Amino acid sequence: MTVWGAAAVDGAAAAGTLRVGLRDVVTPLARERARELGVEIVVGAPEPPREPAPVPPPSPLAAAGPASPVRRMRPPSGALFRRGAPLPDAVRPGVAPDARDSGRVVVVGAGNVGTVAALRLAESDVFTEVVLVDVDEGRAAGVALDLAHAAALSGFGTRVRGAGTVEAAGEADFVVVTAGRPRQPGMSRSDLISTNAAIVGDVARRVAATSPRAVIVVVTNPLDEMTQHAWTSSGFPAERVLGMAGVLDTARFQALTALTGVARADRVAAWALGSHGEEMVIPLSQASADGRPLPAVLPGPQLDAIVDRARGSGAEVVGLLRSGSAFLAPGLSAARMVLAMAADSGEVMPAAVLADGSYGIRDVYVGLPARLGRGGVRGIVELDLRPDELTALRAAADRIRERLAGLASVA
Ligand code: LAC
Repeated sequence: MTVWGAAAVDGAAAAGTLRVGLRDVVTPLARERARELGVEIVVGAPEPPREPAPVPPPSPLAAAGPASPVRRMRPPSGALFRRGAPLPDAVRPGVAPDARDSGRVVVVGAGNVGTVAALRLAESDVFTEVVLVDVDEGRAAGVALDLAHAAALSGFGTRVRGAGTVEAAGEADFVVVTAGRPRQPGMSRSDLISTNAAIVGDVARRVAATSPRAVIVVVTNPLDEMTQHAWTSSGFPAERVLGMAGVLDTARFQALTALTGVARADRVAAWALGSHGEEMVIPLSQASADGRPLPAVLPGPQLDAIVDRARGSGAEVVGLLRSGSAFLAPGLSAARMVLAMAADSGEVMPAAVLADGSYGIRDVYVGLPARLGRGGVRGIVELDLRPDELTALRAAADRIRERLAGLASVA
C-alpha cells in the first residue's frame, strides 16, 4: 500500500493523471490538489479492464431506497472518483449526465448536529461533495470516513470528506454552521452568546473569503443572534445568510400535535416564528391538521400546552440527555433547508431572516416565513396574523434586538 500526498499530485500535473493502486491511500490534501490542478486520479492497473461492467440485479435494499438504475451504473470507486473525470468505456453507456449535481456543501462543526446534517445531505445524493469541517481534524476525517462507508448502504454517490479548516474544505455553494458550544443542563441558549459569537464570527469571515458566493445556514445558538452576527461578520447580502430554527420548532409542534392523534405529524401545518427560544410564536390562526383549523379540532388549553412544550423542547431534550443537546431533528432541519435551496424549490419555510419591514419589523434577524431558492432567501411571505400574534412577533424581534445590543458591548 502506498500513501499518495499532494507532492505526488504535483509531480503528475504534466501527465494529467495519477495512477494509484487499489489498496493505496490518497490523502485529502492530495485529492484537493488534484481537483485544483485537474489531475485525474485513476485507481487500478495501468490498463483498465475492457470487460463490460456487470449490472448488479436490483437488490431488496436498493428497492427500498430511492435508488435508480442510473445510480447503479456509477463507478464503484467512491472516495477516489472525481466527478467529471473520463469514465472507462465499460461504465459509460447508459450513464446520464447528472442533472442533480449541486456542487459542494460544507458543514462546519462535526459534532452531532453537523454529523446528522451531513448524513442527510450525503444521502440525498444531490451534491458532488459534502465536507465536514472541525477544529478537531481527526474527528472531521473520522466522521466523514464513517459516513463515506455508508454510500452503498444508503445508495449515494456523494463524496464525503473531512477537513480541519474552512479553507481546506474549498469553495462551497452552501455552508451549514453548527460550530459552537452546545447547551448543557441549566443553560439557556443565550448563555452561549459571547463564546459562540467568537466562533461564528470567525467562521463567517473565513467562509466569506473562501466561498464568496455561498449561502450560509446558521445553526449555532443562540440562533437568531448568531445568524445576525454571521451576516455582519461575513459582509454577505442578507439573502445569503439565514438561520435554522423555525423548521425545527415547527417540526416539534407538528410531532407534539400528532401525539394527540388528530393527524400524522406531516399532515399538521404550522409556523414557528419569532425567536428560537422564549419568544417563539406559533400562530394558531395559521395551524391546521389534515386541512382543518387546529383551534376547531383541539381545545384551546391543550393547544397552548402543545405550544409551550414545543417552545421548551430543546431544554426538554437537554435535560434528558444530561450532556449535549438535541441533534437529530436539528440536523435534519438544517439539511432540509439546504436541500430546498439546492433544488431552487421556492418552498416557504420558517427561518431566521433579516426582517425587511414585513410584519412591521425591520433590520433584525427573526424567525419569519421565507421563500427559499438557489440564492438563499427569495423573499419574506406575510401571513394573515391575528393582532395578538403580530404583537408577539414584534416583541420577539425587540428582544432579539436587545440581546444583540448586549453582544455588541462584549464583542
Ligand atoms: C434545540 C437546540 C439545538 O432547540 O437549540 O434543541
